[in-house]
Amino acid sequence: MSGQLVHHRPQWKSRVGFLLAAIGSAIGLGNIWRFPYLCYKNGGGAFLIPYFTALLVVGIPLMILEIGLGHKMRGSAPASYATVNKHWEWLGWWQIIFVMFGIVLYYSVVIAWCLNFFFYSFNLSWGLDPDTFFFKKFLMVGSSPFQVGDIRSPILFSLAAVWFLNWFIVFSGVEKGLERANKIFMPVLFGLVALLSLWSLRLPGAGQGVLVYIKPDFSKLKDMGVWIDAFSQIFFTLSLGFGIMIAYASYLPRKTEIVKDSIAISFTNCFFSVFAGFGVFAVLGYMAQATSQPVSKVVSQSIGLAFVAFPKAISLLPAFSQIFGMLFFGSLVIAGLSSSISILEAFTSGIVDKFHYPRKIIVSILCVTGFLGSIIFTAQSGLFWLDIVDHFLTQYGLVIAAIFECLIVGWMYKAKKLREHIRHTSLVSVPKAWDFQVRVIIPLVLVVLLVNSLIKEFSLPYEGYPVLSLVIIGKDWLIYTLAFALIVSGRSWKIEPSRREQH
Ligand code: PHE
Repeated sequence: MSGQLVHHRPQWKSRVGFLLAAIGSAIGLGNIWRFPYLCYKNGGGAFLIPYFTALLVVGIPLMILEIGLGHKMRGSAPASYATVNKHWEWLGWWQIIFVMFGIVLYYSVVIAWCLNFFFYSFNLSWGLDPDTFFFKKFLMVGSSPFQVGDIRSPILFSLAAVWFLNWFIVFSGVEKGLERANKIFMPVLFGLVALLSLWSLRLPGAGQGVLVYIKPDFSKLKDMGVWIDAFSQIFFTLSLGFGIMIAYASYLPRKTEIVKDSIAISFTNCFFSVFAGFGVFAVLGYMAQATSQPVSKVVSQSIGLAFVAFPKAISLLPAFSQIFGMLFFGSLVIAGLSSSISILEAFTSGIVDKFHYPRKIIVSILCVTGFLGSIIFTAQSGLFWLDIVDHFLTQYGLVIAAIFECLIVGWMYKAKKLREHIRHTSLVSVPKAWDFQVRVIIPLVLVVLLVNSLIKEFSLPYEGYPVLSLVIIGKDWLIYTLAFALIVSGRSWKIEPSRREQH
């Protein structure tokens, strides 16, 4: 066995604890505000065909790869790749750096908005015009990405609270912090979403909304864009390519159930999305009826859905509007926090593995820098920045990282070897065809996604932003984080990474 180091590695206290933490990472804001809209836009019920195909072809196999790799190498993403081949350590750093100092910086700001809106629900502060309230009074959106403007103090306060919670949970460790928090968060989230959905489904007009959500339009399946949406969504929603599942799996005991758990995590996440969609569209159906408009006029996604359409609908509810608002925004806060802590953990474990600094100090420094870094997104230009960084990191960063991930594990390490490892440690084994999926199919699918995004980028600058702002803010974010990753991977290891590998 690999000596002292391995003994000190934290471990999940129970399998359920690990499952809930991984599900907590997967279920995030994307499940509630992005999936239902994608489904509606891309053929309603018919979208479930590309969606579940993507889940089976890319989602679950990649989940097995990440969990299998973290388990085999007992390390964070950088440690795991370094064990395969020293020259690829940078990839692990790049993943966790751009996720931590990219995605999580704005993600925590969105959680902060949800926290603000949780309190605004007490007296429905958004009034009769949530649109003006959100953009003009709350965010005070400026006129361009380059006019940074003032920092919005209400957001700053809730942002501090979000980072405090992040810190508090991750600081307490894997078992006492992450495992315990998710054991509370996940049942509460499921309960809240079930309650909200059942409540919404009983509202007048709900049926109409649900019908619009699920009515299948199979002709859409001929459209390549629909398939691309399905594959990109699966990837983001399962937190793949973030280095998170690798780190989480490194805290599993030797005997474990990699295949079963990967399937359980992936399906729970996807069913949650489908289920949440019923609630979302029931509310939209109710709003359409209450305002005598067709459902198609009231649908929206992401920020528009959560902070404009929903507040509008909440104000129109016949009774207990405030409570509905608090439960809705409370659920978003919980869904968001259980994802943001997972990235913090992925980053922390990377540093602990390589430099052996005390975990509590790393978490504290990380949360302070994270908080300071997120402040830029609380300024009046925050919404633009958020949109641009999100676009670049998710469309390019994650996809590029995952392509390399498959190639490194599939060809350099050999998919077969990892499959053997899984067979030895779990009761259920991976079918042989998985090797081909990892080595060929998944990279191919991801390359198609990437090329498609690039073509779109050049033909039409993202959302019509000035090209310069896209280049400076978006692309550079990826390049600077890459440079940083290369520097960190050049430093020497306190204990050689190969010593952690499990045999
Ligand atoms: N799976 C998450 C979601 O759907 C994505 C995510 C994971 C975002 C971790 C941030 C941190 O929202």
